[in-house]
Amino acid sequence: MSFRTVATVDELRDDTPLACDVTDELTVAIVRQQGDLYAIEDECSHGKVALSEGDVYGCSIECYLHGSSFDLRTGAPLNPPATQPVRVFPVRLSGDDIQVDPDNPLSF
Ligand code: FES
Repeated sequence: MSFRTVATVDELRDDTPLACDVTDELTVAIVRQQGDLYAIEDECSHGKVALSEGDVYGCSIECYLHGSSFDLRTGAPLNPPATQPVRVFPVRLSGDDIQVDPDNPLSF
């Protein structure tokens, strides 16, 4: 595991995605929902737009462009037009730091 600090907890608002660069190649949308943290790759698998620009509904995030939603826990698409999952990553709090492990995407 190689967790990296991507933001601090005071930058995050409940149910509002926060785009965070983890590496030069990876940006994630961090979401806090009912006390749980999620880190989902910030790129829709359908049209390559930022998921962090969309809205959070329960444990899902909706792409603003064509309306596909993705499960924040698994990255699975929940409705068309997207058919491919988006990667999700381990995320944790370390003190006030939000940390993401970019090297070990979760698999389901
Ligand atoms: S670009 Fe996200 S659903 Fe089409």
